[in-house]
Amino acid sequence: MGIAEELSALRSKALAAVEMADSLDTLESVRIAYLGKKGSLTAVLRGLGALSAEERPVVGQLSNEVRATVEAALADKRRSLQATARASRIAAEVVDVTLPGRVRMPGKSHVIHQVVDEIVETFVGLGYQVAEGPEVELDYYNFTALNHPPDHPARALQDTFYVRDLSGERAVVEGESDVLLRTHTSPVQVHIMETQKPPIYVLAPGKVFRRDVADPSHLPQFTQIEGLVVDEGITFGDLKGTLEHFVKRMFGEDRRVRLRPHFFPFTEPSAEVDVSCGICGGEGCRSCGGEGWLEILGCGMVDPKVFGHVGIDPERYTGFAFGMGAERIAALKYGIPDLRLFIEGDTRFLHQF
Ligand code: DAH
Repeated sequence: MGIAEELSALRSKALAAVEMADSLDTLESVRIAYLGKKGSLTAVLRGLGALSAEERPVVGQLSNEVRATVEAALADKRRSLQATARASRIAAEVVDVTLPGRVRMPGKSHVIHQVVDEIVETFVGLGYQVAEGPEVELDYYNFTALNHPPDHPARALQDTFYVRDLSGERAVVEGESDVLLRTHTSPVQVHIMETQKPPIYVLAPGKVFRRDVADPSHLPQFTQIEGLVVDEGITFGDLKGTLEHFVKRMFGEDRRVRLRPHFFPFTEPSAEVDVSCGICGGEGCRSCGGEGWLEILGCGMVDPKVFGHVGIDPERYTGFAFGMGAERIAALKYGIPDLRLFIEGDTRFLHQF
């Protein structure tokens, strides 16, 4: 085969190889194989020296044409492979702007925590400190030091959770005081007065436990917030003014406060506090049971007998205390008819707050 035939065979092979190339990398190896310094074209042209002077320019021109044709085919193929690569990259990156967005459901504070925080903030604004006491408590702190007589009904088994030891007997500390789950936050008053000297301005939120079956208005575990003030010259008027400030901050400036005489073993005198109904404004309606008023807390002046247990001089100091249930406050604030909603963990309910 003469050089001219070799050249045209090379051209057909090269063009076929270009046509077959399915990637830019393959295409580059085709280029190197045929047109590269050590490629087939160079190899064929090595035979040029053996040709006659007349044949040489003819074959030279033919080889230039072959090179130009193959280069043009390479360039065409390169463009088309680049276009295909770009199109598939764009297809892979496509964003469907008509899809709905991703919904994020961030966690949040439970409504009872929010209400406790709001109450705490109100009293911290009045200069109160926040304190906590144990949830597992001694009878002494929960009852005796708070002036409950030994046969007080709250001490009965059907009202209080008593802690049992491993033998199943009621747990007793130091041979005398039963161990129980505190039934109210009032024992924190005793812990505070045992360890701090007046002036005392303290708020104590925490869990309390009672042997109640959960129903719309009772929970076996709920949250109380206890307040205690002990200072020189504290009067019932200070208690009333403090509670009025609290009620208006919590429920609104238009709400009124009413104190009704009541009895608690650890305060004397004692009162229950009502807030005027937010729906009828005190007229009486279905939501306040026709009363016009809703009970929100218990309070009173610290009984001198309680001061006696903690060594505070009742001749020098007086004080007031109050206690409220956070679930009840939240239910009244938001119009929630059943306290069990607070503990069921249904996010459709909880996400509304
Ligand atoms: N501890 C009482 C209860 O659980 C509430 C209470 C009433 C607390 C009067 C007080 C108070 O501090 O002075 O029912």
